[in-house]
Amino acid sequence: MELQETQVNTMPRIGDMAPDFEAVTTKGKIKFSDFAKDKWIVMFSHPADFTPVCTTEMSGFAIRKGEFDALNTELLGLSIDSIHAHLGWVNNVKQNTGVYFDFPIIADIDMKVSKLYGMLQPNESETAAVRAVFFIDPTKKIRLIMYYPLNVGRNMDEILRALEALQTSDKFKVAMPLDWKKGDKVIVPPPKTLDEMQQRIDDDSLEKIDFYLVKKDLK
Ligand code: BEZ
Repeated sequence: MELQETQVNTMPRIGDMAPDFEAVTTKGKIKFSDFAKDKWIVMFSHPADFTPVCTTEMSGFAIRKGEFDALNTELLGLSIDSIHAHLGWVNNVKQNTGVYFDFPIIADIDMKVSKLYGMLQPNESETAAVRAVFFIDPTKKIRLIMYYPLNVGRNMDEILRALEALQTSDKFKVAMPLDWKKGDKVIVPPPKTLDEMQQRIDDDSLEKIDFYLVKKDLK
C-alpha cells in the first residue's frame, strides 16, 4: 500500500533525466533510452481512447506531425488503454476523418509508465492519466512539463511554440520573453560583470529598456 502510494506520486521535474522504461506501443516495443536517439521527444498522455477531447488532441498531433519533424522531434503518445483499443481507435479515426496517428502510442495497461511520470493524478481521475506533455531534449533531460485536466484540451500552437522556444534558447544562449514566437526579439541574459554591462550600454543594435532588460534580433 505504502509502495503503491509512492509510485503514484512520483513526479519527475524540469531538469531531471527522463526515467527509462520499456513499453508496448502501436509501432512495436520500445526501450525509452534507445528511442529517438539525438532527437527531441514530445511525450504526451491522454485519458482514454474513443473519447471526444482526446480524439481532437491526437488528431492535432497527427495533423501537425510535419512541424514536429521539422523541429527534429519525435512524438510519443500514451494512455492506460490496451494495445487492442489503441489499434481500434487509430483505425476508427482514420476511417471517420482520414487522420492517421502515425506515431507510437504506448499501451500502458499496467500503468507503469504513467506512474513513473506522475501522469496519474488521483484527485483528478483514479482511472485515467491526465493530459501531460513532457518535452525531453536529445540528452533525455526533461525541459518542460505541461499538465491539463480531463475536461480541457491542450493548445497545439503553444506546444509547438514552447518546443521552438526551448530549442532557440539552447542554440543562441538567450531567453524568450512573454508570448515569444519565431522572428520576435529575444532576451539577452543579464550581464555578469561591469565590463559586460558597459558593453551592452554601448551597443546601439540592442533594444534596451534598462541594463537588465535587453532584447535583440536573432541573425
Ligand atoms: C475526452 O477526451 O473527451 C475525455 C476523456 C476522459 C474524461 C473526460 C473527457
